[in-house]
Amino acid sequence: MNLEKLREKIHQFTGNLYDEDRIKLLEVKVNSFTRKYGVSIDEIFQNNELFDLFIDSILVNETSFFRHREQMFEFRDLYLKELLKKPFYKIMSAGCSTGKEAYSLAMMILDLKPEEKNVRVTGVDLSSSVLSVAREGIYESSKINQIPTQYRKFVTVKEGKLYINENVKKITEFKQGNIISEDYFHFKNYSVIFCRNVIIYFTKEKLRKALKNFHSSLSKSGILVLAPTEKIDKEFSDLFVPEKKGRFTFYRRVN
Ligand SMILES: C[S@@+](CC[C@H](N)C(=O)[O-])C[C@H]1O[C@@H](n2cnc3c(N)ncnc32)[C@H](O)[C@@H]1O
Repeated sequence: MNLEKLREKIHQFTGNLYDEDRIKLLEVKVNSFTRKYGVSIDEIFQNNELFDLFIDSILVNETSFFRHREQMFEFRDLYLKELLKKPFYKIMSAGCSTGKEAYSLAMMILDLKPEEKNVRVTGVDLSSSVLSVAREGIYESSKINQIPTQYRKFVTVKEGKLYINENVKKITEFKQGNIISEDYFHFKNYSVIFCRNVIIYFTKEKLRKALKNFHSSLSKSGILVLAPTEKIDKEFSDLFVPEKKGRFTFYRRVN
């Protein structure tokens, strides 16, 4: 199989397109994978386990606690405080990587309402390896610097590691799912979906699939949060419309 075909397979499966600017990067990743496992590109597609490993190796999973901090704080003040009044609500981190976004959301909730039990924060990702890290909730101790001082009470630093405290883990869960797949994204009645730094390399066709999934996973008037530099064009206004109450734009589900 040549690189072009491989690129199309990855696009179809994950939504991410390695365009002309990034095809070299894909080549490097593929070569390093085939060398590491001593396999050919064709073999990757004949073996489900290898295919999962391969997809893991090409997905970008960079993340941090309280990433885009100002946007998170605006979300907390404008939307989260209102949500806390509900008897039960769910928030999703779609494309959660190793869980830092989901845990940051859970920390903000417990800081505002320490005994909160009527909430579920769900991290969803395609990659099983990042999900295992997320479920463990153990990171390098240096990551403490990413956590604003007021939220450091939710983690314990011990022997070079940072542990997410049990009360935070209790309201957080991690599940595998593919945001562009109709069959592999069964989530319902979420009030908010965070999907930040995931759709950057999505084509419009795959973005529509993801937005349709988010639309059906959100309850009426649910909120979608993209990264501050990401935008949804007018052509998707049948699904989401922008809402700007403060510095950042959030997206509201069209009912
Ligand atoms: C760059 S990380 C972003 C993590 C986090 N949202 C943040 O902003 O810090 C992107 C994550 O999206 C996941 N991802 C990419 N395509 C996906 C898809 N089709 N379905 C689910 N997750 C996907 C990747 O595995 C990766 O963990």
